[in-house]
Amino acid sequence: MTLPESRGDTYRISLVCLGNICRSPMAEAVLRARLDEAGLSGRVAVDSAGTGSWHVGEPADPRARAALRRRGYDGEAHRARQFGASWFDSHDLVLALDHANLATLMAMAPTPDAAHRVRLLRSFDESVTDRDDHAVPDPYYGTDADFDTGLDIIERAADGLVDALRWHLGADQAG
Ligand code: 4NP
Repeated sequence: MTLPESRGDTYRISLVCLGNICRSPMAEAVLRARLDEAGLSGRVAVDSAGTGSWHVGEPADPRARAALRRRGYDGEAHRARQFGASWFDSHDLVLALDHANLATLMAMAPTPDAAHRVRLLRSFDESVTDRDDHAVPDPYYGTDADFDTGLDIIERAADGLVDALRWHLGADQAG
């Protein structure tokens, strides 16, 4: 999958869900770990936000932190933030966790270039077909198992995204 061009030396990615306490903090921790393993952590910066403001300043949900811990990731330092339109100036790629987040972000995008930078995280999962759901389901009212399922989905998408970044940044180096 082709990635939007970077506008600086560092490729900047924001992961966006509704509350920024469950899915996007998990995605941030997973993507950071995967980039580290790929030797790309110096070239790609990752953060996360929510479209809503309810949880701003709070740590990640205890169930998200526990799910991360079970797989060896660390989400303890997270504090929730709200996505704002100005974030489009400072990020190269804005990844929505579900379709509602995608619609909110598209409505906020101030320019066609900004809208072009908004994608679904799951669009990078190479095992997802057109017939599959492209959302990471909201686990907030769910069980611990729903958080684990969310992490399964996030890990597959993060692998595809890291492959796309490796290719994109390698192609940049060559050019
Ligand atoms: P998240 O989950 O979007 O994955 O962080 C939610 C967190 C909070 C709420 C909904 C979803 N909420 O309604 O407060």
